[in-house]
Amino acid sequence: MATLTASKKPSQAILEEYCSSNSNTTSGTTSPSSLESPTAEIDKDPLAQQKGVQLPYPFLPTCLAKHDSHFIERRARQFPADLKLPLLPPESACAVIDAQDKDTPDSWVTRDSRLVRLTGKHPFNAEARIRDLYTAGFITPTNLFFVRNHGAVPKVDFERAEKWELKVHGLCANPTTFTLANLRTRFRVVTLPITLVCAGNRRKEQNVVAKSLGFSWGAGGVSTALFTGVYLADLLEYVRPTKGAKHVVFEGSDDLPNGPYGTSQLLSWARNKSKGMMLAWAMNGLPLEPDHGFPLRLVVPSQIGGRSVKWLARIELSPIESQHHLHFHDNKVLPTTLTAEQARAEKHWWYDPRYLIRELSVNSAIAYPNHDEILDTSLHAPGSTYALRGYAYAGGGRRITRVEITLDEGSSWRLAQITYFEDAFREVEEEDFGVDPIYGVLGTNEQGENCFCWSFWECEATMEELKGAGSIMVRAMDESLAVQPRDMYWNPTGMMNNWWFKVCIHDLGDGQLRFEHPTMAGTQPGGWMQRLKDQGLDPAYPRFAKGEDAKAPTVLEVSRPAALTIVMTNPDVKRTISREELESQEGKEKAWFVVNGEVYEGLGFLEKHPGGAPSIQLVAGEDATDDFLAIHSPAAKQQLADFHIGTLVSSPSSPPSTSEKETDDLGPGGTFLHAKKWKKIELIKLGVVSHNAKIFRFALDHDEQALGLPTGMHVYVRIRRRGEGEGEIVQRAYTPLSDAQNTKGFLDFLIKIYRPCPEFPLGGRMSVEFDRLVVGDEIEVKGPVGHFEWLGHRTAQIHGHSMPIDEIGFVCGGSGVTPILQVVRAIFNETSSEDAEIPDVWVLDVNRNVDDILCREDFERLDEVHGSGRLKMHHSLTGKDVPNDWKYSTGRPSEEMLRAHLPAPGENKLVCICGPTTMEQTVKTLLSKIGWDLEKQIVLF
Ligand code: MTE
Repeated sequence: MATLTASKKPSQAILEEYCSSNSNTTSGTTSPSSLESPTAEIDKDPLAQQKGVQLPYPFLPTCLAKHDSHFIERRARQFPADLKLPLLPPESACAVIDAQDKDTPDSWVTRDSRLVRLTGKHPFNAEARIRDLYTAGFITPTNLFFVRNHGAVPKVDFERAEKWELKVHGLCANPTTFTLANLRTRFRVVTLPITLVCAGNRRKEQNVVAKSLGFSWGAGGVSTALFTGVYLADLLEYVRPTKGAKHVVFEGSDDLPNGPYGTSQLLSWARNKSKGMMLAWAMNGLPLEPDHGFPLRLVVPSQIGGRSVKWLARIELSPIESQHHLHFHDNKVLPTTLTAEQARAEKHWWYDPRYLIRELSVNSAIAYPNHDEILDTSLHAPGSTYALRGYAYAGGGRRITRVEITLDEGSSWRLAQITYFEDAFREVEEEDFGVDPIYGVLGTNEQGENCFCWSFWECEATMEELKGAGSIMVRAMDESLAVQPRDMYWNPTGMMNNWWFKVCIHDLGDGQLRFEHPTMAGTQPGGWMQRLKDQGLDPAYPRFAKGEDAKAPTVLEVSRPAALTIVMTNPDVKRTISREELESQEGKEKAWFVVNGEVYEGLGFLEKHPGGAPSIQLVAGEDATDDFLAIHSPAAKQQLADFHIGTLVSSPSSPPSTSEKETDDLGPGGTFLHAKKWKKIELIKLGVVSHNAKIFRFALDHDEQALGLPTGMHVYVRIRRRGEGEGEIVQRAYTPLSDAQNTKGFLDFLIKIYRPCPEFPLGGRMSVEFDRLVVGDEIEVKGPVGHFEWLGHRTAQIHGHSMPIDEIGFVCGGSGVTPILQVVRAIFNETSSEDAEIPDVWVLDVNRNVDDILCREDFERLDEVHGSGRLKMHHSLTGKDVPNDWKYSTGRPSEEMLRAHLPAPGENKLVCICGPTTMEQTVKTLLSKIGWDLEKQIVLF
């Protein structure tokens, strides 16, 4: 390929060559418009700076182009060989939609299946495996470039891209709205290699030590691309900031619960071309992919990726920093003294400007040896070496000045060789590069000595050295002499983790070594950190040294910074309790249970426990660590100290704990549910009921099996979280929708999904996890639990006491309707027998809007078939959208409403309530005013 020169307009041949190598992306599209064919505008525009850039038309990402093969090989035009620039990687973009994206708002975005998803199906957050990332080379192929999306990708098709506008306004003399063509023709088009790094890179290591607020990035939250666009500084000069402008605020066009993504830069920094901030439309010589901001994004080199706003639509010159929600509530390193819960609860920390992250900190990681790599040293001649390799980067334009390796946990170090690929671009003379039709000019002149990219390092170690070592650790230093620390700075967002990257070496015997990385990205199991934690050792202070060099291992909790540990024990309690005592009659009666090896007495708390006495009785005499830690808040955990009675000790005669015993896996009569054992059920079918409600069908052990759930009782459901908070267990009691008495082989849950919204930024923790499930996923259930059971024949059992019932009322809201449906169904099913006597049934169902009413038809059908009017069903809507023909009530439950739509209080009458806690409490108070006996006649499900 010929060298491109500044004077020459790109020849037709070059464009054709480009276009034909991208034939897949250009086929089947409409004819050029003046907007995307800049030549006419260049000629008209007196400000046109550069007459060399002419993008092939249309400039579309993979998923917007037509294709018929699974993988599209898209090749950006390589630079002339004599420039000696790094080769551009082929982009093997996947052209088919990943099954996981199918029912999500991103179902139109093509993605590479090699990326590891970190937050379940949606939104898409993903990274390449470190070996794939490293072996792809200095420039990361776009399809392996990490992705961080807070929400759905804005759907920008060809038409929308064509009309894309960037509005620049605020404190400036020349506010202007630019099209993409305007940008390209008014300003000099530049290309720079830039490394982007998510502030959460390597967060999984922090999450293993103590769960932070963020999801688990491995060491692949970093990638490098050639970005092409225009300098932000040029655009700012054009709009002429006026007095008072101090910040440049950027806004994307994604539709997030708390408004679009936005953040800001100091104006003085943004005007400084040597900082390299760009408005980019191309990545690696090809259009930005939708995940990376198509059609336009900001790219801020050397700062955390969170500052590089994608789908850029608005820039404002402002006297104050960005007021966008995520500008404050993301990308902060809060003090390590705070726990994640505190940071979540105490908002003021997020507004302290000192904790904002701008520039990247120095960091490095090991790619070779890879996790689980086996090295057979016996196959290598004595003295031969293994090349340890990895990446290193720093922020603020600073160069990595050294990378050091230790094989003895920091007692001695050796220098690694560093390759600065970025310098190859710096060395190209401006006139040799010229003006390229795709890349414009290289921006390295303005960049000066600033470093915007990662470097790769390499260090030899002999087979003997590796055999004698327990670990390999790396640290890097930058030109400000900042060096990676040995110890982790744990912080509530888990960001900027940069302690030494540590790989453990296992000697497998016969000269074979196995290497173990600290963690695996996302929910993937593996890594020495979790292994140590599982062994009761502290992963924050590991010891890998072999033989005599090995210092005592650091035990978990002992060395953990105090702020991260909630004390759940009473220091005055000295008693030891054997397993026999724990499982004895006394232990069961007093509801003794174990958390983290400590014994607690639940008896005094049975009545007060929000989950009801059975939730404690169920674990009496057992180890309840998993369940307890999964569902309790830090405050509840702290309360546990009051119930501490001793420490569990094992004695040689101790039988194994019940959880270890070979217990029968089945409930009474071969039914599925087991009261003491979590059992897995697989999702086999998913149905969408409304925008915020879904039915999930799970298979039991076999087609003929009954669930084994008495009418009116519930099952505990637990799910291991997969998005934010990954790995943590969430647990709640639910009642199936399916007829628990007559359905065999499966059970259905009707779940109302509480997605994150401004009032509840995290959404409903459990329902959000349900929302992430796909067919084939498993959850766990245990039960039955509850203190109410409908026995039939006008009889209920409450807290173990039978009660005759003449009239029964139910007040419910949202999916609280499901236990009520179970009971009403059982009552009306009795009418099929001749001598059936059933109570009168009243149901008051309170919801926000008509769409939110669940199971309405089920109740109507029940009454039609069996009730003949005996079901008195009433509704109330609390939202604003009340239909004109609405014949029921509106508003929250009032005294008047309860009097009108429930039985009057009296003997043999009962009211059951199931819904959001606030509703339950209000209804309880009102019922007591009306004359109901709260103790005996009101049941909270
Ligand atoms: N811009 C918008 N509009 N929306 C986003 O969710 N995520 C930010 C940033 N820009 C984000 C955004 C974060 S946190 C990062 S790390 C980078 O985009 C990731 O860029 P990438 O997905 O192209 O790798």
